[in-house]
Amino acid sequence: MAQGKGKDEVGKVIAFLADYVTKHFKAEEEIMEKHNYGGISSQKTEHAQFIRDFSDLKKDFGKNGVTTHLVLQVQNKLCNWLKNHIGNEDKKIGMFLKKSA
Ligand SMILES: [Fe+2]
Repeated sequence: MAQGKGKDEVGKVIAFLADYVTKHFKAEEEIMEKHNYGGISSQKTEHAQFIRDFSDLKKDFGKNGVTTHLVLQVQNKLCNWLKNHIGNEDKKIGMFLKKSA
């Protein structure tokens, strides 16, 4: 951030996540529906929560640029969410599909 690269980097992360997350959530929800996965409602709730947080952060970024607050929010809300969601909820889908295969 001190070198003025913060804004570019955060912009890139946000653009990447917008694209990745939209595609990933949609594909995952289709797979869960197709296989009648029992945990689909908690998956969808978590996805919706992420989309809400993400859109708040995008607005904040568009309005205020890169602030310390924004960087912390990206770290706390987005990065930790992804780590927990993939490590817990998404892992369960993998185990379910493996068992039913
Ligand atoms: Fe998921």
